[in-house]
Amino acid sequence: MAGQGLSPIRRMALGAPPDAINLGLGEPGWPLPTGQAVRPDEGPADLSYGPNTSDPALVAAIAGYAQARGSDTVGPDGVMVTAGSQAALFALFQAYAEPGSAVLVPDPGFVAYPTLARLCGATPVGYPLRPDGDLDAEALLAVLGEHGHTSLVVLNHPANPTGGLASADALQRVAEACAERDVLLVSDEVYAELWVDEPPASLRDVTDTGVVLGSMSKAFGAPGLRIGWATGEPEVLAPARLVHNAMTTAPSRLSQRAALALLGAAGEVLPAAREQLRLRWDAVERLAPGGNGHSFLGDGHHIPMSRTATRAGFYLWLALPHDLDDDSTSRDDPAVTEAFALRLRDEAGVTTIPGTAFGPRGAGFLRVSLGGPVDALEEGLRRLAPWWKA
Ligand SMILES: Cc1ncc(COP(=O)(O)O)c(C=O)c1O
Repeated sequence: MAGQGLSPIRRMALGAPPDAINLGLGEPGWPLPTGQAVRPDEGPADLSYGPNTSDPALVAAIAGYAQARGSDTVGPDGVMVTAGSQAALFALFQAYAEPGSAVLVPDPGFVAYPTLARLCGATPVGYPLRPDGDLDAEALLAVLGEHGHTSLVVLNHPANPTGGLASADALQRVAEACAERDVLLVSDEVYAELWVDEPPASLRDVTDTGVVLGSMSKAFGAPGLRIGWATGEPEVLAPARLVHNAMTTAPSRLSQRAALALLGAAGEVLPAAREQLRLRWDAVERLAPGGNGHSFLGDGHHIPMSRTATRAGFYLWLALPHDLDDDSTSRDDPAVTEAFALRLRDEAGVTTIPGTAFGPRGAGFLRVSLGGPVDALEEGLRRLAPWWKA
């Protein structure tokens, strides 16, 4: 773990002024529409260990949920229930990321991927995305071609931190290339249910190979349950199950029970979450109406947003103001991005996350979370506005 310090996300939170608005968090802040769903009134809970593979009823519910979303063939053997999708990532990396191999991760991308690769003695190699954060199959395949010894490729869409998506065509090309090279493809789709206009494409729209990750933490609004899952071919999941069992036996039974109740209420919970999300994207558009990749905020102030067309996930990926410095190249300097995020926190009273937290290509950007309350988001955007001059 040498060299692994405090995450930049935690660093931004430490020492923030008490009245700063926190637009840095990566979790939903809206209330569950069915609070009672996580406190089912069914008498005393079974607190035995239970099966390593988790409660068969939960496994069956996840298989049914995955089938409804395009995984035609997934059965109970094709579902691995884990302590959050993070534990699924850990188990898959431990099982598949060979020491000395390359693990391809999005840059910018979710902070855990490179750390998990290093824990296996593998080398994380960032692949670039399109300017709007969408998957660029061409660019990924080029990086794959340069790294003959690649053991794992990770995709994430809708993406943290950019909100980027992946077209079915791009997914198909990447899936074929990974299958040809016998490289495990992991598609992290934990934000998949958080869309406003139309559901994003899934790896399962194009293939039954590879592994798809899901979670209770985002659209189901219950990150504290620590329940996630991986779906894939049984023989692909088998070695990762051994790792997960060795690590944690099985997720908490109380959490499994709550997750089962939430999955049973998916028809209510997910549309309600999407409605909460729509309110937040509407607030962004009201305060920062889009156009030509630039969004205007307040009186002549504008915040250039990377995405204006597709509203999915709950992150805004903001380019730093153009007039930040006389020397425009300084925007690529990680220190400039981090210093600017600290100024926004301490002088504007808004906590955001410097893009550099998510990889070298995050320099020049900030991640703004839409997860919190709408009024806090609106006030936060108002406070940010003067820093982006027209
Ligand atoms: C892209 C992505 N994947 C996975 C996770 C882990 O989520 P969990 O372990 O709560 O399911 C997160 C959490 O922020 C995330 O942003």
